[in-house]
Amino acid sequence: MKSERVIAVANLKGGVGKTTTVLNIAGFAAKAGRRVLVIDTDPQGSLTQILLPEHGLQGKTLTDAFRERAQSLDGVRQPSAIPGIDLVPTTLGFDAVLQGASAWTGREYVLLDMLAPHLATDEYDLVLIDCRPAIDLSVTNALTAAHWMLVPAECSFMALDGYEYVQTLARQIQQRINPQLRLLGIVPTRYRGGTGHSQAALEEIERQVAAVLPPVRFASVRLAVAAADAPAYKLSLAQFAPSSAVGSDYRTLTEHILTFLEDRPYESWS
Ligand SMILES: Nc1ncnc2c1ncn2[C@@H]1O[C@H](COP(=O)(O)OP(=O)(O)OP(=O)(O)O)[C@@H](O)[C@H]1O
Ligand SMILES: [Mg+2]
Repeated sequence: MKSERVIAVANLKGGVGKTTTVLNIAGFAAKAGRRVLVIDTDPQGSLTQILLPEHGLQGKTLTDAFRERAQSLDGVRQPSAIPGIDLVPTTLGFDAVLQGASAWTGREYVLLDMLAPHLATDEYDLVLIDCRPAIDLSVTNALTAAHWMLVPAECSFMALDGYEYVQTLARQIQQRINPQLRLLGIVPTRYRGGTGHSQAALEEIERQVAAVLPPVRFASVRLAVAAADAPAYKLSLAQFAPSSAVGSDYRTLTEHILTFLEDRPYESWS
């Protein structure tokens, strides 16, 4: 296993499938026996709402940990509703904390400082950070703590709109703060076969991929109701509909990521 295992899933554009992508990569990786940590840095808290067990919050949230500039995630991470996935939950109050933190020295490193001890001890095989659709301190923190940026891009009109902004931001962070940060790949999401605009968007995304040559090339993820239904049951597609079309798309995507990160052929699918 390479030690670069932290992936920030980011795009400045909203509703392109960031949270869905985090949920399903986490679900398929956990199903294959990997120890997964997901960190919700979006104050909307969609991932938190999906993954928080029925009995609710146990302990602190990212909001508290950020305010206190915690030095680890102990007392913050908790087992999620899906076995094998730990969750760092967030709340709407995270926004106010971010605003208050705008003058802190070292404000970009708060999340990295919390995460570092858990990376040093190899507690997780994979860490996924869900980002909000904005340029703010939460996204800067996510990209500072990450080794890789994964960008879901919706197969629709102006597919690469948000990508260009987030790629510019990532380049600035790479130059000034986190030289390890690299683009892992672009995931074409919500692909609707047989429609001209989806096909045109996919071709636009593929042109961009050919131009920047990220290390992993992803096939598109199809649009299907199972992807939107699974979260209502606090499940990922790995549990809810693993053999559906969109389930197999996310399974393949996860397989490609793990093969790349682990530097050996993928094994132990169950
Ligand atoms: N492949 C898919 N098929 C069908 N529905 C999907 C698919 N991917 C995502 N969705 C649905 O599209 C909506 C937006 O997805 P999601 O919340 O993952 O996007 P996001 O980029 O995280 O949004 P935000 O920018 O608001 O955080 C959700 O209702 C989700 O269930
Ligand atoms: Mg989201």
